Amino acid sequence: MNSAFPAAVRELTMTRPDDWHLHVRDGEALRTVVPHTAAQFGRAIIMPNLRPPVTTAAQAVAYRQRIRAGVPAGMKFEPLMTLYLTDNLAADEIKRARDAGVVAVKLYPAGATTHSDAGVTDLRKTYKALEAMQREGLLLLLHGEVTAPEIDLFDREAVFIETQLIPLRRDFPELKIVFEHITTREAAQYVRDADRFLGATITAHHLLYNRNALFAGGLRPHYYCLPVLKREVHRIALVDAATSGNCRFFLGTDSAPHPARLKENASGCAGCYTAHAAIELYAEAFDAVGAINQLEVFASFNGADFYGLPRNQERITLKKESWRSPGSFVFGEAELKPLRAGEILAWKLETVASP
Ligand code: NCD
Ligand code: ZN
Repeated sequence: MNSAFPAAVRELTMTRPDDWHLHVRDGEALRTVVPHTAAQFGRAIIMPNLRPPVTTAAQAVAYRQRIRAGVPAGMKFEPLMTLYLTDNLAADEIKRARDAGVVAVKLYPAGATTHSDAGVTDLRKTYKALEAMQREGLLLLLHGEVTAPEIDLFDREAVFIETQLIPLRRDFPELKIVFEHITTREAAQYVRDADRFLGATITAHHLLYNRNALFAGGLRPHYYCLPVLKREVHRIALVDAATSGNCRFFLGTDSAPHPARLKENASGCAGCYTAHAAIELYAEAFDAVGAINQLEVFASFNGADFYGLPRNQERITLKKESWRSPGSFVFGEAELKPLRAGEILAWKLETVASP
């Protein structure tokens, strides 16, 4: 055999992964999407951008109960809860949240994305809450985009680093921060060069697609998410970061379900639904650059280590075997169309096994 061309990997058994950024919504919608995630991931960080947002420990505990009730019998899955940071989040609520097992607080700049109108208008208004988080050991999760209308949509993340993240890290040097769903070379470099208090999640869709996907043959709303897909140079930088083995980068799908009619709309909402085939989509992105063996570090080790939680004990097996993704799912009264609806996927999750 020619050792310059090792046989392609067709099967991978690895530690069960976690999803460090997930939207499961509520009510009937939750009943569709929670089983998809629970079939793959051991745990997931649950985003708090409900309507109204999850802003108290008591709301987070009640929401956790509703999610647990949506996990099919026999599946092991733990939702990890977050609070939604507002200008008014009180320091005592942080303490109550920690005591209730909430692990993080999410910052949405006001107006940045879906259900973000209650978000932060000025970071300085949150400093009391951030001090309490630094003290109590809660993480801060950032939607890292500025919202000023004069800033070009494609530059919002890079400007956020300069104007918000750098001063924030200077003021809170020991606050653990996750720069969520990074989409640019600038963000990947910034996180790589930072200290151990900063990490970043990367979605499968930002590893697989660049902004051309939004316009290929017509306007394609199911590829629209925020932060929006960027140029190819950025996609390549994200793939390099995710496959590098660097402990600061980890898996966060940002799977964000919306009724299909609200995406296929004159003002279509942002969010790609990937939870039905999340680990398979990541496997495809890693395999495309010959790095499938780096998937476990990114998907199953780095996030748990950053959050200071134990790694999962179960194992999963993925096979390189093509299958067709469902075209849609029932979503309460609506229809949910996933990314790659009705298309062929190259990898398939075969089994989840207990230790
Ligand atoms: C998310 C949603 O729909 O809740 N949408 C998205 O495009 N990612 C919100 C978010 O994470 O920005
Ligand atoms: Zn999100």
